[in-house]
Amino acid sequence: MLARPRRNRRSAGIRGLIRETTLDPAHLVLPLFVHAADMDQPILSMPGCARRSIARTVEVAREALSLGVPAVALFPALDEASKDVRASASTDADGLLARTIRALKSALPELVVITDVAMDPYSSDGHDGLVRDGLIVNDETLPILAAMAVAQARAGADIVAPSDMMDGRVAAIRMALDAAGFTEVGICSYCVKYASAFYGPFRQALDSAPRSGDKKTYQMDPANTREAEREVRLDESEGADWLMVKPGLPYLDVIARVRSLTALPIAAYHVSGEYAMLRAAAAQGWLDYERCLLESLLSLRRAGADLIFTYGAVDAARLLRNAKKGG
Ligand code: PBG
Repeated sequence: MLARPRRNRRSAGIRGLIRETTLDPAHLVLPLFVHAADMDQPILSMPGCARRSIARTVEVAREALSLGVPAVALFPALDEASKDVRASASTDADGLLARTIRALKSALPELVVITDVAMDPYSSDGHDGLVRDGLIVNDETLPILAAMAVAQARAGADIVAPSDMMDGRVAAIRMALDAAGFTEVGICSYCVKYASAFYGPFRQALDSAPRSGDKKTYQMDPANTREAEREVRLDESEGADWLMVKPGLPYLDVIARVRSLTALPIAAYHVSGEYAMLRAAAAQGWLDYERCLLESLLSLRRAGADLIFTYGAVDAARLLRNAKKGG
């Protein structure tokens, strides 16, 4: 036998020398749910995650930062009374999200604060766009999203992340940010976002499930990948700084395809349902949460993601640090 692949696997040192993919806390973004109450409200389908007060959110972000996780992605959980059809609360300069951004940036100036741009957390319809006669109207949604992004930038967001999948929103947001003087605020476009059932736990966390219908007229069909190429071309031409593929693990082929199409950084979202599956199996004693988490994140990197949004960011950072220490 001339060729023996196992020679390259003989020792930890040899394996380390030839390892093709790395995973580091510097690649991770921690999504956080914030609410107006003082008490943490655990999210039952996402053990380890909770809706937290602004003060608690700052604490958790500080811990993440100290472990090398540079960024958080913020999702506000509003009470039903604050929601309306036009998502008016989303531009409130003294609203929950704006206050959270300011608190984070003043306590932790180096933290990268990423904010979600979409109507659903603020909308009484639970859709990402404006609803009229049961339809999601694209073009009238754009100014709402643009105003939301400017309000987030004004509060101090470093990167705004439109997750709504309306056509033309990256350009609308870019132009509005520039016109308001926020030329340095970046856009992480949820570019290739599928109409996925894996978002279930997230919608419970925010009470943001659509009140009627589904999101299939704007989010992508899980059957498609050529369509991803169109979305990539459009978002690149509209000025996106990062492109996201979402969900993560079930769509590794899509990440790999997008990798071959763009020189822009690619973000993968290891979404709520993926996290819930790991936690649920681990609670049964069926899977090792820690090892499966790291393997999942490494696989997203191997497929071509530069950075990863994951609810397990702090757990992963701690594990990676301990592994480095030889622990
Ligand atoms: C909403 C939004 C969703 C997620 C991020 N932003 C849900 C949806 O589109 O319904 C999902 C994140 C997750 O499941 O972890 N604009």
